[in-house]
Amino acid sequence: MSLNKDLIEKLVKVTSRAAINCYQYLGKEDKKLADKAATDSMRNDLNEMEISGEVVIGEGELDEAPMLYIGEKLGKGNGPNLDIAVDPLEGTNFVAKNLPGAISVLAVSEKGNLFNAPETYMNKFAVGKDVPFDATDIDFPLKKNISNIADAKNKNFNELTVCILDRPRHTNIINELKSLGVNLKLISDGDICGALMVSDNKYNIDLFLGIGGGPEGVISAAALDSYGCKFQGRFIFETDKDKDRAKKMGIIDYNKKYELSEIVKGDSIFCATGITETEITAAVKKENTKFVTETLVTHKESTIEIIKSEEAIAWLFLIIAIETPSLVPSSIG
Ligand code: FBP
Repeated sequence: MSLNKDLIEKLVKVTSRAAINCYQYLGKEDKKLADKAATDSMRNDLNEMEISGEVVIGEGELDEAPMLYIGEKLGKGNGPNLDIAVDPLEGTNFVAKNLPGAISVLAVSEKGNLFNAPETYMNKFAVGKDVPFDATDIDFPLKKNISNIADAKNKNFNELTVCILDRPRHTNIINELKSLGVNLKLISDGDICGALMVSDNKYNIDLFLGIGGGPEGVISAAALDSYGCKFQGRFIFETDKDKDRAKKMGIIDYNKKYELSEIVKGDSIFCATGITETEITAAVKKENTKFVTETLVTHKESTIEIIKSEEAIAWLFLIIAIETPSLVPSSIG
């Protein structure tokens, strides 16, 4: 079994360090630099591991992303064959503006078990495990889904809350939800956290839906699988370029509805470290000589837990000094 405790510990370090590497860019209004810092850190750390990994969800494709591109090989090549989905900085706007909601995240499975998805939008639908599987469907009319969730949870419509990205493309859905009397949680970004909030009633989200990034959809599915939640997704291929890419990845039916079990097969590990505060994890904290992080780990076969980690501050600035000497602050600590 290659997805074990030892691997979890190493992966937690990977997302923690990527999160810490973003710390210096909080509120600097430079999302590209923050994303690069997280991506560089994640790539370096994954390459130090004794794995034969391949990026199936990444920061783009070879022609457009310098690293962590789809198809990139990771690790020393002497360990288990793994599929790796990465989003080193999910919520670039949040880091740029120093707002809650940013995480560093990855998901891992054995080779061939994570969906190899192109970078297109996906229509997503996620519901908690306390609603019977057949009671909802991405293709049901919205009112039917809401009504069935209300019945399953023994709640009135006005006691339900739906999370959705606040985008003009969702105006009709948002208006219909309002007319049904359902409460909204409109998020400006970060729909991995949005989807994850159906996993536990403490977040008070009864349904997550709407169009967001496809890669974020696949990564969310890995976590929701461990929680026993429902997730469905349908990629949106608008241009011929999108369709060509999809075809190369083996997608024949461009309108297919994917069930969670088709997106993530078998065992998987998901790690998400808070960069700024989120509903799920605390923010990176700087305490004297160390950084402290919180990571949500879900491992389908063993655990769902929040892991606290520490990293010496000196380590971070050593890395920055090597990679971008001009960014090293004049005083540390
Ligand atoms: P970034 O971290 O790449 O900025 O993505 C944030 C995000 O909000 C995702 O969570 C979401 O899936 C996607 O962007 C939505 O895309 P768009 O902003 O184009 O609607």
